[in-house]
Order: sequence, then structure tokens, then C-alpha cells
Amino acid sequence: MKKILFVCLGNICRSPMAEYMLKDILKKRNIDNLFLVESRATSYEEIGNSIYYAAKDKLIEKNIPIYERKAKRLEKEDYENFDYIIGMEKSNINDIIRIVGNDNYKKIYRLLDFSDNPRDISDPWYTRDFDKAYDDILEGLNCFLNKIGF
Ligand code: 4NP
Repeated sequence: MKKILFVCLGNICRSPMAEYMLKDILKKRNIDNLFLVESRATSYEEIGNSIYYAAKDKLIEKNIPIYERKAKRLEKEDYENFDYIIGMEKSNINDIIRIVGNDNYKKIYRLLDFSDNPRDISDPWYTRDFDKAYDDILEGLNCFLNKIGF
């Protein structure tokens, strides 16, 4: 079982989008039983809240199933419990390391570092560009699955 944890600042836009999108891909390929997928925030701002409406609308537009979940903050123990801890932008990576300590087992990645065009996924909370966030996340997920042999 591969355990994947997506992380962003608020855990109401990019990382839950990545969580729902990866679960949808895995289910369609019939390999969802091989993975555990969750997501977390580095900040406390939105803890307990559901996915942001504009991120949800984007997923609905793409026919991606959404189930109830609440934003949770990343905890130090998450480092032990997951195999891949994947942030959306460089500042997430810095914040993740600040919370979990050193990346001794090389588990921490930036999502689009799996792509041939490494870059941050801009925060749609600020840019309001949920189309771009969706496209960037999808590119990252496909490149990630490819990198780990799926
Ligand atoms: P996310 O976007 O990191 O993609 O979930 C954000 C959502 C909310 C806030 C910041 C970023 N906030 O400060 O409330």
C-alpha cells in the first residue's frame, strides 16, 4: 500500500483537489485498493472547513466525485505514517519541513517536480484561477504516477 499525503497552505483548495482527483484516477484504473490518499494544511486558518466552493465547482464540472471531509493540519507524526508528502509550492515544502523536522527518508516532494517543467502550483485562493490549478494538479498527478511506476 502506498500512502500519499498532499499538502498546501489552507487544505481547502489545492491539496483536497489533488486528493479527490488522484482518488478518481485510481478508481477509474481499478488500483484504488493499492493506495491511501489524504491531504493536510500547513496553516491553521481553515481547519475543520470543507473544500472551498470554487475548487468544488471545478471538480463537479470535471465529474470528479466529492465526499465530505474537513481540513486538517499537518502533524509531525504524519511524516512516519505516509510514504510521499507532496506540497504544491516551494513555500509549502519549507513549512512541511518546519512542522515534521528533517526529511531523513526523502519523502517530501513538490508536485510539479515530478514533471518535465518543474514549477510551483500557484494558490488559486489568491489568483482566482481554478482552471490553471486544476490543469497543473492533473499534470503533476499523471507525472507522479508515472514516476512511481503506475
Ligand atoms: P490552499 O488555498 O492552500 O490551496 O488551500 C488557501 C486557502 C485558504 C487560505 C490560504 C490558502 N487562507 O489563508 O485562508
